[in-house]
Amino acid sequence: MAKLLLKARLALELPPINEALNRAAQGLPDAVRPVAQHIFDAGGKRLRPLLTVLTARLCGYDRADIYDLAVTLEMLHAATLLHDDVLDNAATRRGRPAAHTVFEVTPTILAGDALLSHANSMVADYGDPRLCRCFSEATSRTATGEILEIAAQRKVQTSAEEYEEIVRGKTAWLIRASCQMGALRAGASDEQAEAAAVYGENVGMAFQMVDDALDFAPESETGKPTGGDVREGKMTPPLRMYRESLDDNERAAFDAAFATGLMTAADAEAIAGRIRAAGYDARTRRQAEQFLERARQALLRLPDRPERDLMLQMADYVRDRKK
Ligand code: IPE
Ligand code: IPE
Ligand code: MG
Ligand code: MG
Repeated sequence: MAKLLLKARLALELPPINEALNRAAQGLPDAVRPVAQHIFDAGGKRLRPLLTVLTARLCGYDRADIYDLAVTLEMLHAATLLHDDVLDNAATRRGRPAAHTVFEVTPTILAGDALLSHANSMVADYGDPRLCRCFSEATSRTATGEILEIAAQRKVQTSAEEYEEIVRGKTAWLIRASCQMGALRAGASDEQAEAAAVYGENVGMAFQMVDDALDFAPESETGKPTGGDVREGKMTPPLRMYRESLDDNERAAFDAAFATGLMTAADAEAIAGRIRAAGYDARTRRQAEQFLERARQALLRLPDRPERDLMLQMADYVRDRKK
């Protein structure tokens, strides 16, 4: 029953979110629009704009202009995906060829910049500097997280603390901003806007841990390459568990392959199979619970409206999601 409620609300919110996204796409320069449409039309869960809408409604906001604000976070997300797939050398995204394989690398990077810039101007149209600051900070934190991740790439000794800092930047901050901007637009108190931000940040941390578990799932389920993280040299939680399970000889061989980046797709598939068989992906999901519990606690500081229950369900969805 509970799951149904979130699904039903998603079915109601998706059409206006997608309409707002299409309106935004029409405002892009001709040279940029095809790249943006390529990634928008491929789907995606629309988690970030949904959170903006739910948080605004939770804080009592009833106007329809929330959708145009909500999609600025999807545009920022899409821009980071365009760039991320170049950085990660990923061939597929949302079950389709990644944009840089269709439009070439340079036009894709520049289209990401233009998309982001258009999103910035849409945020500015709301005339609230707090929204602009929040959006800018999310952009900067995301980029910084990606830079830290590259600095840690192919290093087996990357610590769990370093991993957490990377994730807080590259993923959690944008989800934090999605919730915070919904609350700010609703005119919530500082305490409530902060509670919404804490909820989003912790949901975001858990979301990326689950993404790292899903990295070892079949591409037919996720629409992203299986074992991409091991090939790209990212020491994520399931991979750390796998590495620790190896004996000395095996570990030395793994470390050498990880450091040189010479693993093939078949090597990555084999490791993914062993990770799933040992249940390290499931264990990573359980570890994400620590963040989800903090997110649930933060919700208690927000008004008792139906959206609060939906956002509680969202925490379970993030832990259990299959794509
Ligand atoms: C992918 O985000 C990038 C991460 C932060 C893990 P999503 O899993 O939300 O991607 P879409 O939007 O549904 O495609
Ligand atoms: C997610 O990084 C964060 C960003 C896209 C900025 P990943 O590289 O783990 O995301 P996927 O797995 O490609 O979606
Ligand atoms: Mg990446
Ligand atoms: Mg990636």
